[in-house]
Parts: sequence; structure tokens; C-alpha cells
Amino acid sequence: MKERLDKIISSRCLLTRTEAAKAIRRGRVSVDGKVCTIPDSKFDTCENVITLDGNKVKRSPYLYIMMNKPEGVLSATEDKNCATVLDLLPEEYARRGLGVVGRLDKDATGLLLLTDDGQLNHRLTSPKSHATKLYRVTTDKPALPEHIDAFASGMDLGDFIAKPGKLILGEGESFVEISEGKFHQVKRMFEKVGLHVLTLKRLRIGALQLDESLGAGEYRLLTEEEEKQIGAF
Ligand code: URA
Repeated sequence: MKERLDKIISSRCLLTRTEAAKAIRRGRVSVDGKVCTIPDSKFDTCENVITLDGNKVKRSPYLYIMMNKPEGVLSATEDKNCATVLDLLPEEYARRGLGVVGRLDKDATGLLLLTDDGQLNHRLTSPKSHATKLYRVTTDKPALPEHIDAFASGMDLGDFIAKPGKLILGEGESFVEISEGKFHQVKRMFEKVGLHVLTLKRLRIGALQLDESLGAGEYRLLTEEEEKQIGAF
């Protein structure tokens, strides 16, 4: 779809429309290798290669942020009493109307995806979504081979029956893969087999892996390859 060049630059490069128009008039933007100084000229990011200061401008107009959520912060966009993950982002990200793709508990850590792409958010979190989530868990007592079947057989958690999950035993920790994201689901599945979760870290959503080089509370934009992996285009 064709869009105005100033709109393309402002949405993808986190500039205001005025800043984007200024950058274009100053000759910082090229389209298919040629400088274009006309802010209202129209192009298609899927067909034209657009650069700002020599850096390729991404296709999707939406913002996709991967965060390594720290403990003690809410995975919500606002809260009267507690710090939220939005408080960890700079203003130019926060003002984009971001939503959290699948919450993590306050005490949980790891991969959190934030985006202003409402449709993709819905696709990834709807009950029909096939995107599995992988968690690393430590528990008060070791998970045992006999628990594997309990996780795989679809547990009755009182208010709902969890879809079959996969429990993988590790050294002093275990890994759980589930396709749903009900409130406290992983903790409740472990409680059901008599284990109490001590730490819970999300490592993957669908094909998107947590970048382990991100420290607690750090974030980065998804690469174009990762945007493709999550189905952004
Ligand atoms: N399951 C939980 O119990 N907590 C989370 O934060 C995510 C999955």
C-alpha cells in the first residue's frame, strides 16, 4: 500500500511528522537509491527500498518491542500504585499506544512483547492462537517423570481444563510449553501436582525467542526477521 513518505518515516523511525518532513527536505531520505526531498510523495514499503541516513526503513508501520521483564514490575500499561513495563520505556515508545501481548505475573520475568499492532496482539493471544509459550520454572521440590503425563493429559484446574502441555525436566529446573495463557496458568498446573513455583521466566512466544543478551528490564525493537516470525507481515 502506498503511503506518504513523511508518514512512512515518522511511523517507522519514531519521529514526529514535522521531524520526518524536515529530514526528507534535508535530503536524508532515499528511495530506491535516489534522494527524495518531497514529503508528500507516495511509496510502498514492501516495494520500495527506503533509507534514512543510509539505514533501511522497515516495512511494518507498527512498533514491536521485546523486553526482558524484570521482577516486581506489572505487565500492564498503567497502574496507580505500581511501576509498569511502560515506565521502563522512553516517552517516544510509550506514547505510541502500546499493548502487552500476553501478560506475565508481577513476580515473573522474561520475554514480554509490546506492540501497537492490535490485530497481531489479538491473533497471538486469542484462544484460537497456536502460538506456544515456553517457560523456565524452578519449584520447591523437583518435578519428576510422573508429572510429565499429568501435564500432557489436560489438567482440570477447577474453572477450566488446561489444554495438554509439555513438561521437560532439567537440572534443578524444568521447562513447560503451553498454548494458552490463562491467569497464573503455569503456577496452577504445578500446584495441581503438588509443586510450588519459585521462579518463572518466559523464554519464547511462538517462534520468537528471548534475546538472552538483554538484562532484566532491558528491551529492543524486533528485527525485521523477528517481525516476520511473529506474523507481522
Ligand atoms: N503462568 C503463570 O502462572 N504466570 C505467568 O506469568 C505466566 C504463565
